[in-house]
Amino acid sequence: MNIHTKAVHSGDRKKPGPFIPVTTPIYTAASYFYEQIEDLDGIFARERQGFCYSRYENPTTAALEELMASLEGGQGALACASGMTAIQTALTVALADRRKTVLAASALYGASITVLLNVLGPLGIETRFVDVCDLEALEKAAAGHAPGAVLMETTSNPLLRVGEIDRIAQIARRAGAALIVDNTFATPLLARPLEWGAHMVVHSVTKYLAGHGDVLGGVVVSDAGHLEPLRALARASGPVLGPFESYLTMRGIKTFALRMERQCANACRVASWLAARPAVERVYFTGDPAHPDAAAIRRQFPAGMYGAIVSFELKDAGREQVFGFMNRLRLVVPATSLGDVHSMVLYPVMSSHREVSPKHRERMGIRDNLLRISVGIEAVEDILEDLDQALGA
Ligand SMILES: Cc1ncc(COP(=O)(O)O)c(C=O)c1O
Repeated sequence: MNIHTKAVHSGDRKKPGPFIPVTTPIYTAASYFYEQIEDLDGIFARERQGFCYSRYENPTTAALEELMASLEGGQGALACASGMTAIQTALTVALADRRKTVLAASALYGASITVLLNVLGPLGIETRFVDVCDLEALEKAAAGHAPGAVLMETTSNPLLRVGEIDRIAQIARRAGAALIVDNTFATPLLARPLEWGAHMVVHSVTKYLAGHGDVLGGVVVSDAGHLEPLRALARASGPVLGPFESYLTMRGIKTFALRMERQCANACRVASWLAARPAVERVYFTGDPAHPDAAAIRRQFPAGMYGAIVSFELKDAGREQVFGFMNRLRLVVPATSLGDVHSMVLYPVMSSHREVSPKHRERMGIRDNLLRISVGIEAVEDILEDLDQALGA
């Protein structure tokens, strides 16, 4: 064969030998070859298992999806390009054959509010906000607005409200709505909402699951009823996660439970330390016995595990003082994200909730002196020493 032809074909399309790789390889192929075209036809027809085209399914991403379904107790999963893609995809599937109204928790990540109001709103999907921790208010809103979907976070970003998912699921189901729970902050180590009646669970795997600040990704884990509609949507419009990101996420997940245990323990120390600082006006932490949702937290989360986010308000501070504190940090990273091995500080008004209207922020209780710490796996004394020097100045 001509060297031009050899360069294109030699070495490719080898059948794997009798070995099984110990960990899942990164399959970058966009399409898959079978010796008999009838086999490929059977896969397109979904009469047999296999891969035909990576927008439909990819072996590396399918392994991550199997892993996530196993962690969350779901029937299957769809890995998506980001947490936000996962949320929008879950909402699209939930509303496809239901009423086009979303009942959303008033305490939500800012971009989720933006998707609801600015992306889905112009398409005719109406959103009503309600405090899902107030079951009476939720029940009333469900009766009054006839929602097709209820969207909430297990632990809300950034003020850490925790609703009772089994009771919320009952209300959603009675109203004929699908319950979608964003389990990013809690992770399946603390909560498995599908087991409590949710229809779909979404994650930003960018956070605790991948855990190292080097992947952007999301996942929808589904009950049996929404799985095929999710896959059909993926086949059609391809919101999928690439194989390299899937590989990194699987690699991260192997240690997520260990990291989370350490991060939860560190967060307890950080929260109680902050509460004793004169420069700190108020601390928000799920491990606080005086937390407004303490009963739900006790009922739902494993003993002693509260999550690893601590939010706090700086006393008499505005934007300038908050920026000063963030600029003085030497170890804790002042950047946008959470759930990484390293501790991070974020200013919600500047980043996660920037697009949310000041009125909505006020209703959520997000003030201009509020900061959110994602506590990492470092030695906690080093985290405290850094916070101390940054607060002290
Ligand atoms: C609770 C929550 N859900 C979803 C997202 C969005 O995830 P991603 O940035 O991977 O799109 C975030 C991001 O901060 C988040 O905090």
